[in-house]
Amino acid sequence: MAENDGTKSDDNEAFVPDFDISRPTIARVYDALLGGKDNFAADREGAAAYVKYVPDAEGCARENRQALVKGVKYLAKQGIDQFLDVGAGLPTMENTHQAAQSVNPDAKVVYVDNDPIVLAHGRALLATDDSTTVVTADLRDPQSILDHEDVKAALDFTRPIGLMIVGLHMHFHDDEQPDEWVRVLLDACPAGSYLFITDFVDTGEPLQKGMEKAGLESLGNGWIRTPERITEHFLGLPLVEPGLDFLARWFPEEPDKEVPAAEELEPFQRILMAGIGYKA
Ligand SMILES: C[S@@+](CC[C@H](N)C(=O)[O-])C[C@H]1O[C@@H](n2cnc3c(N)ncnc32)[C@H](O)[C@@H]1O
Repeated sequence: MAENDGTKSDDNEAFVPDFDISRPTIARVYDALLGGKDNFAADREGAAAYVKYVPDAEGCARENRQALVKGVKYLAKQGIDQFLDVGAGLPTMENTHQAAQSVNPDAKVVYVDNDPIVLAHGRALLATDDSTTVVTADLRDPQSILDHEDVKAALDFTRPIGLMIVGLHMHFHDDEQPDEWVRVLLDACPAGSYLFITDFVDTGEPLQKGMEKAGLESLGNGWIRTPERITEHFLGLPLVEPGLDFLARWFPEEPDKEVPAAEELEPFQRILMAGIGYKA
């Protein structure tokens, strides 16, 4: 497969025949919102649709990425040394393996994404890192993730796992029952494992509705959910402190940290919530 050389010029797009670059993908639109270079004109249009409805959409993407790093470091400090990061996205500034290995250099990470561009770019980034694996597989077929040879080789399912479904649920409608796919993965993880989730929230604010509209317009998905419904994603697991909260108020490593009241946050900071469940 020809590789994107990382520039944004449209000439570059001619060199990536294996990807359909005429339509936006979630991974590449998110990359565009994060200021990355692994995206094409259609993806940048998709990102522009987000900015049209949510002027600070880039801030939302950045806060989600910061929450990912906060959650991974928290898990590594709890002794988690193997991570299954489903819906991993394109490599960006600080990735799961870097966050985990900053706490425990021996931590292993398996990245799973159904967009093949993630594998192409992930492989290049991780060529020198044998603790990290990138796999193309689909959350909608969770058993195929568990049965994947590279997943089985990298992770020991008799020891606790950090299962990450970060920034992914919003891309599935409730009718698809995404919780049931996650349940298959969680059932394979032993006691002592954690389930880390972020999702778009619906507390009745217009900007949250704007995020949903933007997603539906650009990608055909991106639904918002009530906090009660997001809590159900944890499949009955108790949540570690501070529970489910807006990303800017969510500091699992410092649950007593003084944080602004939810009403004091910028409206764009009330679009995503995070939480971590513990499997006792
Ligand atoms: C919004 S990005 C989140 C990336 C990263 N987890 C984060 O929070 O920074 C969602 C990612 O999920 C991937 N994805 C979407 N549907 C998927 C599926 N059915 N199975 C696996 N990955 C999927 C997309 O390709 C994209 O890379």
